[in-house]
Amino acid sequence: MTSPIQSSHANFFIFNNVQLPFSAYHQNTLHIMSNSSEMLSRRIKLANGMAMPQIQLGLYMMSGSETSRAVKWALSAGYRGFDSAQWYHNEREAGQAIRDFIADAKSNTTNLTREDVHFTTKLRENSTSYDVVRKSIKKSVDACGLGYIDLFLLHSPYGGPDARLTSWRAVEDAVRDGEVKMAGVSNFGVDHIEELMASNPRVHPVVNQIEVHPFNTQTAIREVCAKHDIVIEAYAPLARAMRFRNGTIVALARKHGCTPAQLMVRWTIQNGFITLPKSARRDRLVANADVGGFEISQQDMEKMDGLDEGLVTDWDPTDAP
Ligand SMILES: NC(=O)c1ccc[n+]([C@@H]2O[C@H](COP(=O)([O-])OP(=O)(O)OC[C@H]3O[C@@H](n4cnc5c(N)ncnc54)[C@H](OP(=O)(O)O)[C@@H]3O)[C@@H](O)[C@H]2O)c1
Repeated sequence: MTSPIQSSHANFFIFNNVQLPFSAYHQNTLHIMSNSSEMLSRRIKLANGMAMPQIQLGLYMMSGSETSRAVKWALSAGYRGFDSAQWYHNEREAGQAIRDFIADAKSNTTNLTREDVHFTTKLRENSTSYDVVRKSIKKSVDACGLGYIDLFLLHSPYGGPDARLTSWRAVEDAVRDGEVKMAGVSNFGVDHIEELMASNPRVHPVVNQIEVHPFNTQTAIREVCAKHDIVIEAYAPLARAMRFRNGTIVALARKHGCTPAQLMVRWTIQNGFITLPKSARRDRLVANADVGGFEISQQDMEKMDGLDEGLVTDWDPTDAP
């Protein structure tokens, strides 16, 4: 099985403001984490010294009104991270929901501030025009109304080397100017990661957000990211609910007294990934994060790894030229 340790810099997780080594994870973590809000407070440390929530709510395929509702439910349940994109057309509603929640004393019972919530969005298209990308980033900052974006990603490697590296330069300058706190990439394959790192980036890419779940384990991309201290963010961690009836998943879920969705989220957590399960339903988004009460054994992790069939649930730009 793959180790939960991503890299020398990502060897830690933070629980209740205490930084714990990942090596303590199996021995020490489970007994203190027994419900979803405890799991949701866990943060992963990144190569730049900052941290972000390990479980975040994915916002893909949510309408504006679904986003407004789901973000507020999620904040009440303890979620502290949200994954949007220019493409999802819900940056505005996500940001507004976060701001409304923070401002509403009745909902915000734990006195959350803006700094407690992590908001990600992504560049729709790489461009060879630096100015186009800078303006696009500013538009996202304005749309969400949160003052800054915690994590800004290149959504894909499409566009070729010049567009990728020019876009990255614009993101770096947005970090310098305080519009963005951290930067990363998404759907980058091995060659794209090597290309970016060979360009001596001024800002270290903290994550590569890729499709990864037991039905698509992405070992080559995980290895190159580990080599460069880039944490994996798992998208489609539930494989879009397409394999919940798989015999191995059903049997292991039964063994652990959990749902197939919880089993799959737990697999991403034990691999040390940041994970982005999406649900627009309150009951599901609460349950999907309630994964602190069981541990998948190494043998069962290996069984799950063995389910790899290279399943692509949406798109696969990782081998784009
Ligand atoms: N960077 C990229 O290119 C990229 C691509 C895809 C996704 N993403 C990110 O990753 C997030 C997650 O990926 P995803 O949304 O594609 O897939 P996912 O999280 O694997 O699965 C979401 C699907 O599963 C359903 N579902 C959720 N919990 C369930 C449960 N407990 N029981 C039964 N069904 C359940 C959801 O329906 P309901 O909503 O009706 O519950 C939805 O149809 C996205 O929202 C997005 O933020 C990024």
